Amino acid sequence: MWSQDNVLRLIFLILLMSKRVSSKEPQCSSFHYEEQLLSKMIRMEIAMEQQQQRVNDALEKMSQTVEIFKTDAIKKENQMLDRIRNALEGADAAVVNFSNRMILLEDNLKNAIDDFAQDSKLLSSTLTQNVSEAIGYLHTLEEKVRTPTIAFEAKALKDLSLTAFKPLVFTEAVFNHGNGYDVKSGVFTCPLNGTYLFTSHLCTAHNRAVHYSLFVDDIVHTSGYVHGSITHHCTSFDAIAILQVASKVWIQTGDNGGTFYQESQDWLNTFSGVLLHR
Ligand SMILES: *[C@@H]1O[C@H](CO)[C@@H](O)[C@H](O)[C@H]1NC(C)=O
Ligand SMILES: *[C@@H]1O[C@H](CO)[C@@H](O)[C@H](O)[C@H]1NC(C)=O
Ligand SMILES: *[C@@H]1O[C@H](CO)[C@@H](O)[C@H](O)[C@H]1NC(C)=O
Repeated sequence: MWSQDNVLRLIFLILLMSKRVSSKEPQCSSFHYEEQLLSKMIRMEIAMEQQQQRVNDALEKMSQTVEIFKTDAIKKENQMLDRIRNALEGADAAVVNFSNRMILLEDNLKNAIDDFAQDSKLLSSTLTQNVSEAIGYLHTLEEKVRTPTIAFEAKALKDLSLTAFKPLVFTEAVFNHGNGYDVKSGVFTCPLNGTYLFTSHLCTAHNRAVHYSLFVDDIVHTSGYVHGSITHHCTSFDAIAILQVASKVWIQTGDNGGTFYQESQDWLNTFSGVLLHR
């Protein structure tokens, strides 16, 4: 506001005025005039200094105001930033919560699916097991209902003259389903629990007798005898026995032994057995 130019202009104006003043005062000498000018100039200078001081004060005040404003603004700005930060953090936390919940949900879903898979696997395996058990049971039933073919017929008696209590060994198996009959010992070994029918056909030599017994596991089951007269004589007998696996069945002579008659084809003396029912 108080530039150099303005100051000079002011000084010039003052000089002009002072000339006019001096012209109005005739008594003034040159010294007096210079003295007055100097005094004015000094006053001017003082006024200028005061003016400068005021300007400086104003500037100072302004700068202080600006400082205050700046501080305030920074404070406000910081407060704003804090609020924004808090808001962001809150939002962040919410997002974290959300993402946590999503993870939890995902975990729960995954667990549920795993459990379901486990359950259905278990269910499927028990079902499979149950079904296979049921099939096994059906097979057992089927086997129980179905009577397998256990049957033999043996002929060709080995010894035609036997003392007491000797087994009759029929040496040829016409058939032997189930392999129960042994042609070497004459003993039938029961391969399956069940009800069996045994039959035998025996012929005496001329005028001789045959005493016989059917044994089941060392116990006499059926006994008899046949006596030949002028010619040979034949008899047949049968027995039904409920047997267990490994039971042994055979025919042996009684206390008087036996003398047998046998044709060339060996059909006269036979021993047969069949499983009737399991
Ligand atoms: C986050 O979840 C917890 C518990 O579920 C709750 O206490 C907290 O206020 C939640 N935070 C936000 C930011 O939602
Ligand atoms: C398997 O059998 C058991 C007992 O027999 C039964 O309790 C179960 O429900 C069955 N499971 C299936 C899958 O059939
Ligand atoms: C045969 O019968 C006996 C006595 O009843 C029994 O203990 C056994 O388990 C039966 N065996 C079979 C293969 O059924």
